[in-house]
Amino acid sequence: MEVILVPDPAAAGAVAADAICALLDRKPDAVLGLATGGSPLAIYDELARRHRAGRVSFAAARGFTLDEYVGLPADHPESYRNVIDRDFVSRVDFPPGAVQGPDGLAVDVEAECAEYEAAIGRAGGVDLQILGIGTDGHIAFNEPGSSLASRTRIKSLTRQTRMDNARFFGGDVAAVPVHCLTQGLATILEARHVVLVATGAHKAEAVGQLIEGPISARWPATVLQLHPRATVLVDDDAATRLELGDYYRQTYRAKPDWQGI
Ligand code: PGA
Repeated sequence: MEVILVPDPAAAGAVAADAICALLDRKPDAVLGLATGGSPLAIYDELARRHRAGRVSFAAARGFTLDEYVGLPADHPESYRNVIDRDFVSRVDFPPGAVQGPDGLAVDVEAECAEYEAAIGRAGGVDLQILGIGTDGHIAFNEPGSSLASRTRIKSLTRQTRMDNARFFGGDVAAVPVHCLTQGLATILEARHVVLVATGAHKAEAVGQLIEGPISARWPATVLQLHPRATVLVDDDAATRLELGDYYRQTYRAKPDWQGI
């Protein structure tokens, strides 16, 4: 796991955008794993800026989102298909239909989850997966207790996650769906490169567990310790529980420029 400590969310966005642009340079038809929520916004802002400047194109790329609420109407502004469209897809040049997500309105949930896994497989797998982390240690919507070998499936959201996400639903926890479809932890581990962004003091405990805690379903993000190429971008506010912060800083400072992340 490569840990990069950055001063603020914009700096994290720039480092992640560099990695995505480098990937698209060498593989224009790359498959991106797209996260929703607050964490990736600085990445999407930076990529939209670089796209407007003619520095990156998504015209041959594809994308898969991580998860979706169950039961939100298709035109609900907080359905993750609409969120990813608003936050990123509509701001760059993905062709129509190039970005997919699990269907939270599917009648046959198990068939939908299996088909989503198959679609990722048919696309050749995810080249670079963007991730955030929940305050309870979830990645995608793999809540505490998730099997470390899980695949795409239906999950129940914790009260904590529903409270964290109530800000998107007018502050009303009851309006946040109880169920979701989410890629599993084993699904995410198959991405060839994982880039997780964690910013803000409310993420400090989860970040401490993710990077320096024992691998455990109690903190599902810790499964990333098993990934051969995981990059974790942490801002100062989220880094306060790390014991080895000086080591991470020194390592990144001494990293050869050509290496990238
Ligand atoms: P956030 O959510 O990026 O909105 O903080 C992260 C997550 O729940 O995975």
